Amino acid sequence: MKAIILSQYEGPDGLKVGEVDKPQPTDTQVLVRIKAAAINDWDWGLVRGTPFYIRLLAGLFRPRVQIPGAEMSGVVEAVGKGVTRFQPDDAVYGDISECGFGGFAQYVCVPETALIRKPETMTFEEATAIPHAAALALQGLRDVGQLQPEGKLLINGAGGGVGTIGAQIARSMGAEDITGVDHGDKFAVMRQAGFGAVLDYTREDFTASGQRYDLILDTKTNRPPFRYLRVLKPGGAYVTVGGNTGRLLQIFFLGPLIRFFTGKRLSIVALKTNQDMDFLNSLYEKGGLKLFLEGPYPLVEVPGALSRFGAGKHLGKVIIRTD
Ligand SMILES: NC(=O)c1ccc[n+]([C@@H]2O[C@H](COP(=O)([O-])OP(=O)(O)OC[C@H]3O[C@@H](n4cnc5c(N)ncnc54)[C@H](OP(=O)(O)O)[C@@H]3O)[C@@H](O)[C@H]2O)c1
Repeated sequence: MKAIILSQYEGPDGLKVGEVDKPQPTDTQVLVRIKAAAINDWDWGLVRGTPFYIRLLAGLFRPRVQIPGAEMSGVVEAVGKGVTRFQPDDAVYGDISECGFGGFAQYVCVPETALIRKPETMTFEEATAIPHAAALALQGLRDVGQLQPEGKLLINGAGGGVGTIGAQIARSMGAEDITGVDHGDKFAVMRQAGFGAVLDYTREDFTASGQRYDLILDTKTNRPPFRYLRVLKPGGAYVTVGGNTGRLLQIFFLGPLIRFFTGKRLSIVALKTNQDMDFLNSLYEKGGLKLFLEGPYPLVEVPGALSRFGAGKHLGKVIIRTD
């Protein structure tokens, strides 16, 4: 089968398009004929071997992952003897970053727990945009952030996957006062996603605006924790899904102390992959979830598409067509 092959941490230019053996499912695995995949932050980290924790997970000097690609959708081709939830011809999607990656290829074998049934009305491209970003947004807003419909919500890094899906999830939960912070190029998409107010991070610093929020969801944590505290209302919460490693460590260690002394919460989302997908499938089927996509690009264009992603030039989730 055709695949994008990773052999060194050399960035997108080090990737090769090549032929590898088609995988065979074990008793507990599902063989999926991949139709589409999406570029994810994990893939960008994996091809460069940075931040450093990527090397702790994927190999210190050389990547153990042979084929990147964290989010994919496709059709079940075969199942192992012990698989109970799926059968050939089922349309599926999932985040496969916890079972070895491999989405930038024509086939992959994964455990059934990594797969979700795709609603008929959802396209394969749309399905690849959901598992990672939507799960982060839902778990960040609902579970960790405990979003209250009457509260004032701000999402930082609002024009990306988590932000555009997050605004729609928040609206479906009744929130109305939603501000998004990102680059001005993303404002049109952000307004379509449901942001009532938009701020350009290159011109304004939301932590110095004088506005206060009940909940802040951040995809880009890059400031000292105290800057977030000053724009939180009493009892408010700041929830991050990712960002600068040093800042995340500060939040991890200082968060409990800050809560004790101020009553405000600073928390990090530890993603539970492929959970809550029934909620998201149902939101999609009710017409409450619009996905913003770029592409699709053919498999051979993965290196170029990854470079666009890394340079922040993409608008929406970057989709790869693998068939
Ligand atoms: N918690 C977990 O378990 C877990 C697991 C995996 C990944 N993650 C994290 O999840 C996040 C991915 O979020 P995503 O998919 O929404 O990312 P994304 O699609 O790349 O979106 C991020 C957005 O933030 C914007 N941005 C860049 N710099 C900014 C700044 N200084 N202030 C405000 N916005 C800025 C980007 O715009 P530009 O075009 O201008 O750059 C982009 O539109 C990453 O932080 C990743 O590390 C978390």
